[in-house]
Amino acid sequence: MTGQLRHMLRDDDVNHEEQRQILELGMKFWKDRYYRRPFEGPQAVAVLFDKPSTRTRSSFATGVAELGGYPLVIDKSGSQLGRGEPVADTARVLTRMTSGIVWRTFGQERVEEMAAYATVPVVNALTDQFHPCQILADLLTIAQHRGGVDALPGMTIAYFGDAANNMANSYLLGGAVAGMHVRVAGPNGFLPDPGIVADAERIAEQTGGSILVTTDPQEAARDADCIFTDTWVSMGEEAEYAIRSKPFWDYQVNDGLMALAKPDALFQHCLPAYRGKEVTASVIDGPQSVVWDEAENRLHAQKALLTWLIGKQRDDDGLLA
Ligand code: CP
Ligand code: NVA
Repeated sequence: MTGQLRHMLRDDDVNHEEQRQILELGMKFWKDRYYRRPFEGPQAVAVLFDKPSTRTRSSFATGVAELGGYPLVIDKSGSQLGRGEPVADTARVLTRMTSGIVWRTFGQERVEEMAAYATVPVVNALTDQFHPCQILADLLTIAQHRGGVDALPGMTIAYFGDAANNMANSYLLGGAVAGMHVRVAGPNGFLPDPGIVADAERIAEQTGGSILVTTDPQEAARDADCIFTDTWVSMGEEAEYAIRSKPFWDYQVNDGLMALAKPDALFQHCLPAYRGKEVTASVIDGPQSVVWDEAENRLHAQKALLTWLIGKQRDDDGLLA
């Protein structure tokens, strides 16, 4: 029987129940790193980078190896993609040799094109628009600190800073899929695309969550269960550094902002972090910060995601059991 070819290009490529299955599997990998080895052989998984990375590179390379596979890590400078070979041709070639393609690149349309031509699962390892692997890790981190995956629906998460970037978009969609109350706060000019907000609102209606986009950081922080921020200057925006250092100061995550959230609120940051800019050292290095668990959870969440995707394709629900 032929299974389903599924991809993870944006956070709403899985529904509530599917996201829950992936997170439960992530909890299992957290407890036992060698819980499942679906790529035993080893089968290769291509991991491609058009942008720099520390966590995504190390977690996918380690994770694929721990799943029994061979991580074929290729940088832009070392591939023909970097010299203009069509995405479609790259997809056709990698599909013949690998069991999955993971790609960090610029426009979302590039991962969509890869998925259109690949016959193996394609995973978005960050585009300008979304970072779905990070959100899975972040949700897993909350679940670990709050008694399990079933604790997620109904919680309030709040993100501060560049609310038009990939992390903000992914919190909107991924949080809505999880049935959470998602708040996103940033200055005018750096608020999320209305189309993404509308998608998140439609999902939240079905999952019991809600969406708030605001320019008021205090409104967003009040009684939140988890506070998030991210760099004010994403990869590819380095030329805007001077413009981008000004509008975000009111959205810095500092002790004052944390004090508005629940007393036991968690703090997360996808990293790399710039202390003294989007977050103070007192918060990121303080007692409410779980950023190192969050970084480690990239490994567990992505192993779960790859196992789930390959299980769907092989029609093998046993990989979830
Ligand atoms: N959070 C994250 O994706 O980190 P890297 O850019 O180091 O992969
Ligand atoms: N918004 C950041 C996330 C880094 C993991 C960027 O795209 O650079």
